[in-house]
Amino acid sequence: MALLQLHDVKKIYDQGKIEVPALRGIDLEVDEGEFTTVFGPSGSGKTTLLNIIGCLDKPTAGTVTFAGSDLGGLDKKALARIRRHNIGFIFQSYNLIPVLTAYENVEFAARLVGKYSSREIRDRVLSILAAVGLEGLEGRRPNELSGGQKQRVAIARALVKEPKLVLADEPTANLDSKTSEEVLQVMLKMNQELGTTFIFSTHDPRVMEYARRLIEIRDGLITKDQRRKQDDVLN
Ligand SMILES: Nc1ncnc2c1ncn2[C@@H]1O[C@H](COP(=O)(O)OP(=O)(O)OP(=O)(O)O)[C@@H](O)[C@H]1O
Ligand SMILES: [Mg+2]
Repeated sequence: MALLQLHDVKKIYDQGKIEVPALRGIDLEVDEGEFTTVFGPSGSGKTTLLNIIGCLDKPTAGTVTFAGSDLGGLDKKALARIRRHNIGFIFQSYNLIPVLTAYENVEFAARLVGKYSSREIRDRVLSILAAVGLEGLEGRRPNELSGGQKQRVAIARALVKEPKLVLADEPTANLDSKTSEEVLQVMLKMNQELGTTFIFSTHDPRVMEYARRLIEIRDGLITKDQRRKQDDVLN
C-alpha cells in the first residue's frame, strides 16, 4: 500500500513581486518500507519536496496523502500531530541540542510524543542508541562526538518514536565519504530491521548507491524514477 501519494504538487514561493516556482507538478507514490533517494542539482526542489512531504510546508497546488489522510484538509495543529507521531527528520547539520547528552537528545524526542511511560522511554532510548552503534557514548554531549556519531544520534532521535517515515535532507553533506557510507549503512539497517520508510536527498553518488529507488528531480519536476534490482545496490 502506498504510504505517501503526491498528485500534481506545485510549490511557488512568493517573493514579493517575484514568484519562484520550486515544484512544478510532482506525481509520486512511495510504499511502506521503501529506501529512496531524491537527487538533483542545487535549487532543483529537493528540500522543498521533503518539507512538503514532512508537513513542514504546504503545497501551492496539488494533493498530498499520507497514510490515507489528505493533508490538504488539515490545519496546522493536525499537521503537527501527524509530524510528531509519524515522521522523523534527519538534517544535514544534525540539529542536536548542544547542552543535552546523546541520551537526553533522544529522550527529549521520545517525551514529545507524549504516549510513553518513563520506563518505556528509558528502554527505547537505550535500545535505539545501541542499534545505531552508540552504546557507551550515551553520556556525551554533541561537541564530544564526531560528525558521524552526531548523525547517529540524530538517526536515533528520528527513530525512537518508531515513525512510519523518516526524511533526511542531505544527511551526509557534512561527513567525509567513509563516514557517509557508515551513516547510510545505519539507515539501511534500520530500514531493514524496523521496516521504516526512508526518503533522503543527496548530491553524493556514493550515497545514492545505497538507495533501492532513485528519483531525480530537475527544475521542480521528476525526470527519472528508477527502482533498482537487489543485485545493483550496495548492502
Ligand atoms: N523560502 C524560500 N523562499 C523563496 N524561494 C525559495 C525558498 N526556498 C527555496 N526557494 C527556491 O526554490 C527553489 C528550490 O529550492 P530547494 O531548496 O528546494 O532546492 P534544493 O534542491 O534543496 O537545493 P540544494 O541542493 O541547494 O539544497 C530554488 O530556486 C530556491 O531558490
Ligand atoms: Mg536542499
